[in-house]
Amino acid sequence: MTLFEAIKRRKTTNGAFLPDAVTLEHQHILVRAASRAPSHFNSQPWKFILIDDKDMIARIAAIGGRTMTQLIGEGTFFKRYRKYFRFSQDEMDERRDGIYIHQMPAPLRPFIKKVFTDTGISLMNTLGVPKMLGEDNRKLIADSPLLLVALLDNSEYIPGELSGFYCLLSLGMTIENIWLTTTELGMGIQFVSTPMEVPEAWREIGELLHVPESHTMMAIYRLGYVKPEESSAMKINWKSNERKRLEQFVFRNTCANPEAGADLSEGVL
Ligand SMILES: Cc1cc2nc3c(=O)[nH]c(=O)nc-3n(C[C@H](O)[C@H](O)[C@H](O)COP(=O)(O)O)c2cc1C
Repeated sequence: MTLFEAIKRRKTTNGAFLPDAVTLEHQHILVRAASRAPSHFNSQPWKFILIDDKDMIARIAAIGGRTMTQLIGEGTFFKRYRKYFRFSQDEMDERRDGIYIHQMPAPLRPFIKKVFTDTGISLMNTLGVPKMLGEDNRKLIADSPLLLVALLDNSEYIPGELSGFYCLLSLGMTIENIWLTTTELGMGIQFVSTPMEVPEAWREIGELLHVPESHTMMAIYRLGYVKPEESSAMKINWKSNERKRLEQFVFRNTCANPEAGADLSEGVL
């Protein structure tokens, strides 16, 4: 696969992975790819935990499910993320960012127009939708053969200081390397984010994993090999293939001049 193909084919996996264990060789390729990322003064301020122990995955999955139920049930999810949802194809075509609401899971669709209101949220609760989505999320994580946790070294990761910013940049680059590598290896990857939205849940996972005081747990991903036809019928579809047009995010010489003209790279990337 060429680099351009890998960049173009990289995507978020919403569905279940194949049950096959991720080979040790592939696990090591993923973290070696991560370690190839640039970092300030080659500080490599990251650490990764590879989790393939079924019991540990099940415990984290339970927390993932519980926090999903909580965030949907309390309405926090919709309040926090409302601005990223698009309600029509026209809006999507114009903005080319965010998530089209029709990609929400089937149990949520009847409430699409109301999910952002208190009435909609209490109706969903009455019908047990948050529990259903939480269980869906728990199962997705529990059935993932591999979890990967990214940590940053607190002596470098100092929020508000330049080194803190550099750490975040570098960590992002490690994750992109991992993400691109999954594409090459026939694997998929998804952010497990609901626990980090509930501080007690995030602490609980940190304790389970014995994350030392010297490090901060930054992110958790689930990984595995992907089915040829990935189904997302019941899953919250967090991914979107839409990307802004060049003139929406690139400027020539100054911010006053949006990049104009044909997108020459169309077709390659
Ligand atoms: C910082 C960050 C947070 C994200 N959070 C989530 C998440 O909580 N759940 C999820 O499934 N995907 C998450 N994603 C993936 C994005 O939703 C996804 O990259 C975007 O919709 C584009 O889709 P694609 O990755 O398939 O190209 C996150 C990505 C980033 C970079």
